[in-house]
Amino acid sequence: MAARSPVINVMSAAALKAARGLIRDFGEVEQLQVSVKGPGDFVSNADLKADRILRDELMRARPGYGLLFEESGAVEGSDKRHRWIVDPLDGTINFLHGIPHFAVSIGLERDGEIVAGVVYEPTRDELYWAERGAGAYLNDRRLRVSARRQLSEAVIATGLRASDRDKPEYFALNETITGSAAGVRRFGAAALDLAYVAAGRLEAFWEFGLSPWDIAAGILLVREAGGYVSDLSGGQTMLTSGDILAANDHLHLPLAALVRETRGRARKP
Ligand code: IPD
Ligand code: CA
Ligand code: CA
Repeated sequence: MAARSPVINVMSAAALKAARGLIRDFGEVEQLQVSVKGPGDFVSNADLKADRILRDELMRARPGYGLLFEESGAVEGSDKRHRWIVDPLDGTINFLHGIPHFAVSIGLERDGEIVAGVVYEPTRDELYWAERGAGAYLNDRRLRVSARRQLSEAVIATGLRASDRDKPEYFALNETITGSAAGVRRFGAAALDLAYVAAGRLEAFWEFGLSPWDIAAGILLVREAGGYVSDLSGGQTMLTSGDILAANDHLHLPLAALVRETRGRARKP
């Protein structure tokens, strides 16, 4: 059985506590689908409640740490080295539509580096966790990225923000990757896309313009499972640009080359 460190225990307990509320609310959302008003306000409340639980739990366990939460924003801590980066509900549109694919994501940054990450998928009771240098796990099973070497065998996930709907670069890339891979998926929860790359279910994941709370924990999961993560230019600006390409160790390089070529072509007048 994998030994979880005290900080992973704190993060897991907070995620599980927030998820209990989310699961209750998700049951309610399924009922609200057919009502005229729809579940919109109810979902915003579920999101805020989860945010509050996570903030309370994490602040109680590590009072001085700084915070970067999607819903409640940034708070500087007395401990300048550490910061929690949290998405209380990743996959909100799925949640709103009664689609059981959403997660709680908690990353811990130390001196600007992600050192611990937890992604919890409540409907499957799957807890993904990783600590720098100690590996990535799904519940108690050690994770390793998939061993597939051919793009033609790869299943690759992507995502698209509503505000990027008219981004020609996205569609150019999507077309090239769709033409090269065995399958392309858009699941709607970036933290889980990354966790699935770590678990070897997906060979790769890419997206433009994500926020730090979508990817902080997932980046560490993929790395600790033996995969590679970069931005879409091959650099390491993921947490600031929000652009990301995560893949198994065999396919990151060929995919990064494909992205480079396609973007070069798409930019030519
Ligand atoms: C979104 C999801 C989605 C991604 C969006 C994110 P939210 O987060 O991760 O998969 O495509 O860019 O904003 O709003 O559900 O927390
Ligand atoms: Ca998110
Ligand atoms: Ca969210």
